[in-house]
Amino acid sequence: MLSPLMNTIKIILTVLIILIFGCDDAVDKPKEKDQTVIGRDSWKIVQEDIFASNCVDCHTVGTSFANQSDLLLTSDVAYDQLMNHPVNNQSALDNNLERLGTEGLSSLYKSFLWEKINAPDKEHFYGEHPHYGSLMPLGMPYLTNGQLEFIRQWIVAGAPETGVVADSSLFDDTTRFVEVEFAPLTPPENGIQVHVGPFEVQPHYEREFLNFVNIDTLDEVYIKQYEISMRSGSHHFILYTFTNVVPPMLVPDPGEYRDYRDANGNYLINNLAITSYHVYFAGTQWPYMNYHFPPGVALKVDINNGLDQNSHYINRTDEVQIGEVYTNIYFADPSEVEHEAQVMFINKTDFELPPHEITTLEHTISVGERIHIFQLFSHAHEHLLEFSVEIVGGDRDGELVYFAYDWEHPPILDLDPPITLEAGEGLKLNATYDNWTDKTLRFGLLGEDEMMILFGYYYTD
Ligand code: HEC
Repeated sequence: MLSPLMNTIKIILTVLIILIFGCDDAVDKPKEKDQTVIGRDSWKIVQEDIFASNCVDCHTVGTSFANQSDLLLTSDVAYDQLMNHPVNNQSALDNNLERLGTEGLSSLYKSFLWEKINAPDKEHFYGEHPHYGSLMPLGMPYLTNGQLEFIRQWIVAGAPETGVVADSSLFDDTTRFVEVEFAPLTPPENGIQVHVGPFEVQPHYEREFLNFVNIDTLDEVYIKQYEISMRSGSHHFILYTFTNVVPPMLVPDPGEYRDYRDANGNYLINNLAITSYHVYFAGTQWPYMNYHFPPGVALKVDINNGLDQNSHYINRTDEVQIGEVYTNIYFADPSEVEHEAQVMFINKTDFELPPHEITTLEHTISVGERIHIFQLFSHAHEHLLEFSVEIVGGDRDGELVYFAYDWEHPPILDLDPPITLEAGEGLKLNATYDNWTDKTLRFGLLGEDEMMILFGYYYTD
């Protein structure tokens, strides 16, 4: 999955972390039984050993991430920023959260910092608090369970700036939260549910197919939320509607599995023809996702011509895997809609990645009218090292607004307030790939081909 280079970097980092935490233990443990506990302050350990390597790249003066969150976590100001500044997120402010407090356990449950890092509570975080933004560290692996427990103990002890109040042997627990078990969704009251599977994915095979659902009872609907739950092993899941000009011979049969490739990996051209009539409207690479449009914003979708469900599973094991996907689509009442969401889809298809080389591709687009972008996420395949997006033109020219290191689970970045682009301004996409194979890679649908896509949502005035 990861390139050899990335693996080496990971191993080096892991060794470094072990060395650092190994030292902490030696410092923090009392040497003799009647000696008072001396050592680095717990807060220092939080800042130096956790925040410095996981958070400070973004939460540092001058980055767009720091501007957006109004939070700095560098050692000079982090404590003050957490203790004495109100939360920046409006929804968390409305719920009376503070970044951090000194009242122990009650502060823990009022702490937005804790909400934002407490990955084991992910389902609650995204399920109950749709406007809290993303779990931190954004786009990187969650903090380990040991790091989280260390921070939790420190907060419960009143989050003092000085003093040793948490046990640094907790860092020995380097496990991380893993995703919730797959479960069917309860159908929505005002909305629809679509479902595909269970279906088989053969060993060492990438299965990608379309599966059509007929919905002729409804016309145009406003969608304010969608929720997707998949069995593990999925690479992506996308929902499409259709343009109005689908040739009758291409209209699919409901429920049929229309695979992209046969068992030998050859494309089934007849099944791919429909893709040029698809209109993207929702998708995820996460096993569980519960997306809410911002208050007052909804996406108008014409579902009268039905929906195509596009599932892509990658099975690298020796066993047959089972895939299955549930999607709930929640409708908005048209009277609550102030802004209609539009789908952004920027796709670069004309590129070549030479063998055994690291290549960076650039792609710049500009907009014809003023737009407000409120969500961004990238899509690429396994050779991707890094994907970034910056603003072109205007006051914020050159500002980095998105980046992803993880091709499998790129961060879905919610932008609140949205990024506003004036007519003539645009976005520049940069993607760096490591082609460790012996052949030139081009745009293609298979995991071994590559892609450079930026998805998102925006609205106009
Ligand atoms: C890739 C950049 C990035 C990294 C890494 C990152 N953050 Fe953030 N952080 C953001 C962005 C962007 C926001 C605002 C959007 C959001 O909340 O999702 C944010 C918001 C926050 C907030 C909410 C602030 C407020 O008052 O609204 C907290 C708390 C936070 N981050 C803590 C952390 C911690 C702790 C880490 C490291 C464990 C971390 N972040 C790592 C980009 C990042």
